[in-house]
Amino acid sequence: MYAKPVILARLLINNRRLWIPCMILVGLCAITLLLHESDNTNRDIETYVSTQPSKTFPFPLANSLTYDEVKFLLDQLFDTHVSLTDIQSIWNKLMNIWQQILTKFVHDACSLCHHNGSYCYESIDVTRYVYYINESFYPINEIKRPVGMGLFYYFDLEHLRAVNNSILPTDVSACDYFHMLQLMVNVQLILHQAQIKYFLTKGTLIGVLRHHDVIPWDTDIDLFIPSTATEKILQSFRRLDLSLNKNSSATTSSTMENSRKRLTKDRPSFHKDLVVYQFKNVHKVTSYKIFSLRSPIVNRTNYRWPKIDIFPYEENATHIYAYPKHQHNLGTMSYLAKSNVEPVYLRVLGPLLVPSPRQPRLSLKAMVRLGRSNLFHVCEGNTFLHRYNRGSTDNWRVPCKELHRNYPFVRSERNATTNLCSEELKFPQLNQGLSLYKYRCEEDLPRTLQ
Ligand SMILES: *[C@@H]1O[C@H](CO)[C@@H](O)[C@H](O)[C@H]1NC(C)=O
Ligand SMILES: *[C@@H]1O[C@H](CO)[C@@H](O)[C@H](O)[C@H]1NC(C)=O
Ligand SMILES: *[C@@H]1O[C@H](CO)[C@@H](O)[C@H](O)[C@H]1NC(C)=O
Ligand SMILES: *[C@@H]1O[C@H](CO)[C@@H](O)[C@H](O)[C@H]1NC(C)=O
Ligand SMILES: *[C@@H]1O[C@H](CO)[C@@H](O)[C@H](O)[C@H]1NC(C)=O
Ligand SMILES: *[C@@H]1O[C@H](CO)[C@@H](O)[C@H](O)[C@H]1NC(C)=O
Ligand SMILES: *[C@@H]1O[C@H](CO)[C@@H](O)[C@H](O)[C@H]1NC(C)=O
Repeated sequence: MYAKPVILARLLINNRRLWIPCMILVGLCAITLLLHESDNTNRDIETYVSTQPSKTFPFPLANSLTYDEVKFLLDQLFDTHVSLTDIQSIWNKLMNIWQQILTKFVHDACSLCHHNGSYCYESIDVTRYVYYINESFYPINEIKRPVGMGLFYYFDLEHLRAVNNSILPTDVSACDYFHMLQLMVNVQLILHQAQIKYFLTKGTLIGVLRHHDVIPWDTDIDLFIPSTATEKILQSFRRLDLSLNKNSSATTSSTMENSRKRLTKDRPSFHKDLVVYQFKNVHKVTSYKIFSLRSPIVNRTNYRWPKIDIFPYEENATHIYAYPKHQHNLGTMSYLAKSNVEPVYLRVLGPLLVPSPRQPRLSLKAMVRLGRSNLFHVCEGNTFLHRYNRGSTDNWRVPCKELHRNYPFVRSERNATTNLCSEELKFPQLNQGLSLYKYRCEEDLPRTLQ
């Protein structure tokens, strides 16, 4: 019943040549719907609405600090008049709140998705995760004063990740989302342990800017690492060796066994299930897919879902570019100035904190295909369904504004005096944001999501 207006709306947005015929059809549709409505008045004809979090969102709740308290801490953290010692103590307070939020997330997820099975709790070592993130970003001196920091002061897995509606149906359930983040925490742990530089890219970078999370309808997580670290990556995980077995069951290369044993010696058991698979796409772009052997196989592939995609990049003294170099113009990415990337700083990815490029918007322009530069105004659906290993049958683009009533979007404000930006996740049907983020914003690019 809703299909007609939805398809027409998409065609209209994507193809201006269809405007006139579409307008005529829309007119006809509208008349049809109006006629239909008149004899079916209690039927909801709102195209964009289906499942929504209830208005009785359990809020405020749980964590030890309120919105105002977290906001105050963040304001202090970026106040240049506050002493370094005080900055360090504020930072530690925020790290402690973050640890509580993460712990709650793991408990909620393990209860919801694994009936409190002990394996689930052991699969995420919250203490170790917080330790590595803190160690890498702790404001140890004046130069390392935070550039950006924030968190969800309230993260409820079931409600936040339950949005599914008719215009962008998603097959990523709350538990699928948990499995993506469970994987991400462990990949981050290993990258820190192996001292590999990494940061968010592509869709996941769009996600942290626009939703403080993975894009609600997206199905994977993308990271960049320097190509010089590829050997380390291969040594840090079990390797999927296809020369031994063309069928899809994973095997461990025996040559890798020893180095793996050394590296996994003191890791929780979840790591033993993680596999790295070297993948070359049709453009000969190499990526490393990391997934768990516990996840289901993706049909007609050698990997599983959920997965983390790690892309190695090449670099010279001043720039980062796609690997291999001559493929840089094939939709992968163009030259990216290092000054826009480094030093990386933390961004909010749901309950996690992940290193991101220093100038995320300028970096994104180089990372994603042309035509997506207005990605704060135009929301694009998945072009590829990673879970099913096929392109989407339904390529849509809609003005993001039209999704504000159904999906959480970040609202951003810039203080021209201080050059600080404050972000907050606006959740439909709620007056108050659920996440807070503050950073030094120097980019001369639009920030608002209006
Ligand atoms: C973060 O690291 C610093 C420096 O190593 C340490 O003093 C501090 O206690 C750590 N904070 C947390 C919350 O772990
Ligand atoms: C898991 O444990 C918590 C607290 O003990 C309980 O509230 C919850 O119902 C349990 N979940 C399942 C699925 O058993
Ligand atoms: C979302 O809705 C679509 C269509 O109504 C359904 O096929 C899909 O399974 C739903 N996804 C989840 C995660 O429930
Ligand atoms: C792959 O699986 C098929 C059917 O299960 C089997 O006949 C074939 O021998 C297997 N190939 C290899 C290389 O193991
Ligand atoms: C790095 O590569 C970019 C793009 O080709 C080039 O503009 C820049 O000058 C190079 N930098 C150095 C130091 O070679
Ligand atoms: C994989 O293929 C099988 C057989 O064709 C099908 O039954 C199954 O639903 C597919 N699974 C996914 C995740 O697409
Ligand atoms: C900008 O920040 C300054 C210093 O914190 C504050 O006094 C001022 O009110 C802020 N301006 C706006 C528009 O919020």
